[in-house]
Amino acid sequence: MSEHTSIHGQWSSRLMFILAAAGSAVGLGNIWKFPYIAGENGGGAFVLFYLLCIALVGIPIMIAEVMLGRKGRQSPINTMRSLARSENGSPLWALLGWAGVAAGFLILSYYSVIAGWALAYVARSVAGVFNGATADGVQSIFTDLVQDPERLLAWHSLFMVMCMLVVARGVRHGLERAVRILMPALLALLVVLVVYAFFEGAFSTGLAFLFQPDFEKLFFRCETIGGVRQCDFTGDPMIVAMGHAFFTLSLGMGAIMVYGSYMPKSSSIGGSVMTIAILDTLVALLAGMAIFPLVFANGLAPGVGPGLIFQTLPIAFGSMPGGQLFGSLFFILLVFAAWTSAISLIEPAVAWLVENRQIGRARAAIMVGVTVWFIGLGTVFSFNIWSGEAYQLFGKTVFDLLDYLTSNIMLPLGGLFIALFAGWVMQQPSSAAELAMKPWVYGVWRVLIRYVAPLLVIAVFLNRIEVF
Ligand code: TRP
Repeated sequence: MSEHTSIHGQWSSRLMFILAAAGSAVGLGNIWKFPYIAGENGGGAFVLFYLLCIALVGIPIMIAEVMLGRKGRQSPINTMRSLARSENGSPLWALLGWAGVAAGFLILSYYSVIAGWALAYVARSVAGVFNGATADGVQSIFTDLVQDPERLLAWHSLFMVMCMLVVARGVRHGLERAVRILMPALLALLVVLVVYAFFEGAFSTGLAFLFQPDFEKLFFRCETIGGVRQCDFTGDPMIVAMGHAFFTLSLGMGAIMVYGSYMPKSSSIGGSVMTIAILDTLVALLAGMAIFPLVFANGLAPGVGPGLIFQTLPIAFGSMPGGQLFGSLFFILLVFAAWTSAISLIEPAVAWLVENRQIGRARAAIMVGVTVWFIGLGTVFSFNIWSGEAYQLFGKTVFDLLDYLTSNIMLPLGGLFIALFAGWVMQQPSSAAELAMKPWVYGVWRVLIRYVAPLLVIAVFLNRIEVF
């Protein structure tokens, strides 16, 4: 094993690592998923618990993942194997790398379909389809799209080809320039949308929904049926919030680990991780602040599900000055954000294939891409020919099941084991030397990674199981 660099190359600087990891973290999770799950899970209290998970679980585990990657300098599977050896752990730790590869395949399989929606919306905004559109009109544009398996398949295929192209060339090429320009542009556009929502939306209602916690909603789901309020105990909001903390920071499956393995030795891990986590959280909160005022101003339900941003933002673009341009730009940037995230989902598998099967990156990227494309068919059909109850399990479609299994179970479990490895298996001098933090910062991290993060993950799991 090489001590200093990975065989796949290295980022040119610390900034390059931050850009790449931020490119991975900021994606559909922030702009598409965060608003719709916040809407489904009652807003405020859910958002607060999600922020708590970012701080106490996400950030320490992200530091651990980068550290393990940079120390191991290989694909996550081989990194876990060789670190387990050098730290006197069991060779079974390599399984963690394998589970990560599996999670990456499953996540990308549906991520690509949703990115396909964003691609379809680029075409529609450029063509001016949303100009002057009403809430109903926008709703039917969305329904028409997802009910057509052929169209979804075409966009999903295009997005997978885009991913294979980048991964085949090596993730470093072009990523730096892309993220450096696109991330600020995306932030600026989100600010434009928030300003629009401030003037034209139900801003205070939207903000109250997002930031005023009603803690009952973490435990109960209430419905008013025929004038009678009925509440059911639920374990979902907390596990969804925690799962999303992993999802949005790209944690628990080796994506950040493999990016860490390309990180120069001299740069600070803690500082980089803080920058990435803050940026990621900012994008999600801005997206929420843009969307919920529009939801309430147009009398839509916050809990409509995965179509939320596709059914709300076009209303804004349809009526604001310059909306056609802003709308087109927005969906283009959304596609780019999804793209820079998607490539990190298959990089661990491709790096492993290159290391262990002696094949080139291009062939590895195609093999992985075709497999993921195929699994993606399940999600393509979830919104049309397989949307009926005959094709559901526990009332969930293939898409719902994949999302639930990966975000809420596989990623937190992966993260839990990463925390246990970094905090308990790895010797203190090894992690202290690799992180090179100020002593008190290292002390805080160590308490978080050994006790706080694992216990919080376990507590949320147990809470969910009990409700089940
Ligand atoms: N974090 C990305 C988003 O929010 C998605 C993503 C990329 C991801 N790589 C990952 C999620 C690895 C989990 C694990 O859109």
